[in-house]
Amino acid sequence: MAVVALVIVVLLAIHADLVENVCCENGTKLLLVSMDGFRWDYVKTARTPNFRSLAARGVFAEHINSSFVTKTFPNHYTIATGLYEESHGIISNRMYDPVFDQKAGYGSIRSKWWEGEPIWVTARRQGLKSATYFWPGSEWEINGFRPNYWVRYNKKHKFKRRVDKVMQWLTKDNVTMATLYFHEPDSTGHRYGPGSRQVREKVEEMDNMLGYIMEQFTSNNLWATTNLIVTSDHGMADMDLKNKIIDISKIISIKNDINFTLDSGAFMQIFPKTSAIDIVDNLNSPNLEMTAYLKENIPEIWHYKNHRRIAPIIIVANEGWAVVKTKPTYSSKGTHGYDNNLQSMKPIFYAAGPSFKTGYGAGPFHVVDIYPLMCKILGIDPAPNNGSLSHVMPLLLPEKTTEQEVKQKEIKQNKVKQKEVKQVGSGGVGTYFSIIFGILCHIFTRVFRVM
Ligand SMILES: *[C@@H]1O[C@H](CO)[C@@H](O)[C@H](O)[C@H]1NC(C)=O
Ligand SMILES: *[C@@H]1O[C@H](CO)[C@@H](O)[C@H](O)[C@H]1NC(C)=O
Ligand SMILES: *[C@@H]1O[C@H](CO)[C@@H](O)[C@H](O)[C@H]1NC(C)=O
Ligand SMILES: *[C@@H]1O[C@H](CO)[C@@H](O)[C@H](O)[C@H]1NC(C)=O
Ligand SMILES: *[C@@H]1O[C@H](CO)[C@@H](O)[C@H](O)[C@H]1NC(C)=O
Repeated sequence: MAVVALVIVVLLAIHADLVENVCCENGTKLLLVSMDGFRWDYVKTARTPNFRSLAARGVFAEHINSSFVTKTFPNHYTIATGLYEESHGIISNRMYDPVFDQKAGYGSIRSKWWEGEPIWVTARRQGLKSATYFWPGSEWEINGFRPNYWVRYNKKHKFKRRVDKVMQWLTKDNVTMATLYFHEPDSTGHRYGPGSRQVREKVEEMDNMLGYIMEQFTSNNLWATTNLIVTSDHGMADMDLKNKIIDISKIISIKNDINFTLDSGAFMQIFPKTSAIDIVDNLNSPNLEMTAYLKENIPEIWHYKNHRRIAPIIIVANEGWAVVKTKPTYSSKGTHGYDNNLQSMKPIFYAAGPSFKTGYGAGPFHVVDIYPLMCKILGIDPAPNNGSLSHVMPLLLPEKTTEQEVKQKEIKQNKVKQKEVKQVGSGGVGTYFSIIFGILCHIFTRVFRVM
């Protein structure tokens, strides 16, 4: 029996050696994950052991700065392109383009609206395979390219199913760059407000999903070759539709002054019929909890001015307030779209893998810096963008790591890995059981043949 045990141990050691992927010659692989509306400080109020574990394994920023306007489509496309919204053209979830003379929003934002170059196109143009399990823009051909694999948006797809498909792409289909999108905790944040018990529970559910992703990384031996970035598009603020609404129909004439408006709540776009200057003066004169801007006077720090789709007038509400033109009939206790410099609008950033330092806490950077970071990790040349690699270089391991450093990092990561396998106790362990079973069968058939 002792001999059998020894044989098993030796075979297991060989097996472990074989499945340990050798890291990519020309860069590493990348999985980019977004959890929509995941405010930076949710991890402090909910139980999030998997986020803590990811931070310990790699790097994290306590928060990062999103782009203005702090909405879902614009920020996701900024993450993907490294461009400010004025430079990629997705200036809100709903838009009007004066040249197209068309409106578009969410699923109807067709190819011609998406400017700049998203990471899945940059990767493909340079010969890598890319895949997207949802991401704003990923369903449309951009500059003649689509991801090699992509999925039409359907929020009904179970989160676990999304993870499993992405793992297949990374382990079997030779995909180098993949995205994975979850529409939570955003939906719950809108409905119940960021401080609610429901959001806390949803955040814990998302932490479990992160745990599942990390477990899959471990059981598929991806940590040596694949970087994992987990981020979000914006935060969430409390909203009080009973007591904190500003109804602009009480200040200006919707019928006479305005052609149409888009968006409401934290942010509103106004396309005027009459003089834009007069409308802005009127809107700002009562000194309400909001500011109306003429397009040319929008603050420079927002980089939200130089695009034909940006409305002639925008209104930005103060935190917690909602701008409307009719009394709201829906109920909602949380929103976003406010000034991106507000703490409540800030998203998360966590990353780990062969390119990243271990246990490193980064200072805040801007969401535009993620694109050059991703290009660096993938070993590809970025398209023109507004990010800066120097802001995120401190997150990365020095490029020319000596063999000794690589060894040390591997030892460190193996320790974490072993701990994780112990904690989750599935996946990898199952594989070993099947191997042991196989070996035992083999031995028994031999023994029986001899007899
Ligand atoms: C790495 O890049 C070199 C030069 O571009 C190329 O010849 C080689 O095939 C690449 N290796 C892999 C594994 O992609
Ligand atoms: C992945 O790459 C391997 C090795 O180059 C190849 O045999 C296999 O067919 C590829 N699979 C797909 C789905 O492209
Ligand atoms: C009003 O908006 C429509 C697009 O919905 C546009 O075609 C028209 O030119 C606009 N009119 C004015 C006066 O701005
Ligand atoms: C991030 O936002 C803060 C305000 O919350 C601002 O002071 C800082 O300059 C911003 N940093 C970057 C890199 O945008
Ligand atoms: C952002 O990048 C684009 C593309 O390079 C460039 O055209 C634009 O001027 C940049 N914006 C700023 C504020 O630097």
